[in-house]
Amino acid sequence: MKRLENKVAIITGSASGIGKEIAFTFGKDGAKIVCADFNEEGLQQTVSELNDLGIEAIGLKVNVTTEEDIAKMIDGALEHFKTVDILVNNAGVVDQMQAAANVTDEVWERVMNINVTSIMRAVRKILPIFIEKGTGNIINMASISGLTGGRGGLAYTASKHAVVGMTKNIASQYGPQNIRCNAIGPAHVPTPLTMNMSNVDEYGMQVATRGVNLMTKAGTTNEIANIALFLASEESAYVNGVTIAADFGWSAY
Ligand SMILES: NC(=O)c1ccc[n+]([C@@H]2O[C@H](COP(=O)([O-])OP(=O)(O)OC[C@H]3O[C@@H](n4cnc5c(N)ncnc54)[C@H](O)[C@@H]3O)[C@@H](O)[C@H]2O)c1
Repeated sequence: MKRLENKVAIITGSASGIGKEIAFTFGKDGAKIVCADFNEEGLQQTVSELNDLGIEAIGLKVNVTTEEDIAKMIDGALEHFKTVDILVNNAGVVDQMQAAANVTDEVWERVMNINVTSIMRAVRKILPIFIEKGTGNIINMASISGLTGGRGGLAYTASKHAVVGMTKNIASQYGPQNIRCNAIGPAHVPTPLTMNMSNVDEYGMQVATRGVNLMTKAGTTNEIANIALFLASEESAYVNGVTIAADFGWSAY
């Protein structure tokens, strides 16, 4: 029996990088996939690659910063698959490593809207469904910047600390209703997010990368997706409210 047999999973930010890999990993283990992203071309590509593998998947064009689209995402999943079992809040953006003295309101608001507010809204919308089902599983994509202070810009670090905090809060408040909420904190994983950074804040980058030589190696999207699979499956049934650092011991130093 596959680990996610007949489970329905919504994955935000699944047109690219880690989210796309999670879609494949869940799909290969039996899940039906709802891909949600605002990159329409990447979205269609992911869905057609999933379908080519015989995985049931639909794509919904969603900008996670709007409440309307969050509603469209969850209602669309329910309409198509009749239920939702797993919500992966993965969509996220970086902050050009802007240090506290240089952070702009524009970057701060963009990062907070995409990385934090979108999760609050998606969770607020899915919880009544999970409560009614008597079960549910939420996985949030945090970052090593949510567990440490010096590895990103101010807005990104604050946003990912918020994700870690929301993860604990949701687990603590809804664990009694058999709902789990965990997070993953990757270090460096080569994806378009990290490879295409532009307009980088020179000071922020310089101070945030002081400890990079202590990172043994970068991770792969597959290694992160396998952690998501563990958290989505019954293998992690007794795990709730944690953020798993995925950094090969970088933050353990
Ligand atoms: N790659 C890394 O090194 C790394 C490290 C730590 C944490 N993360 C986190 O992992 C997550 C995924 O990042 P990735 O590296 O796969 O990046 P990526 O850029 O490859 O993928 C992010 C996806 O999110 C989508 N997205 C962005 N804003 C959106 C919006 N408003 N509405 C809908 N979709 C939106 C993008 O279109 C893209 O498909 C992010 O939350 C990121 O912060 C990544």
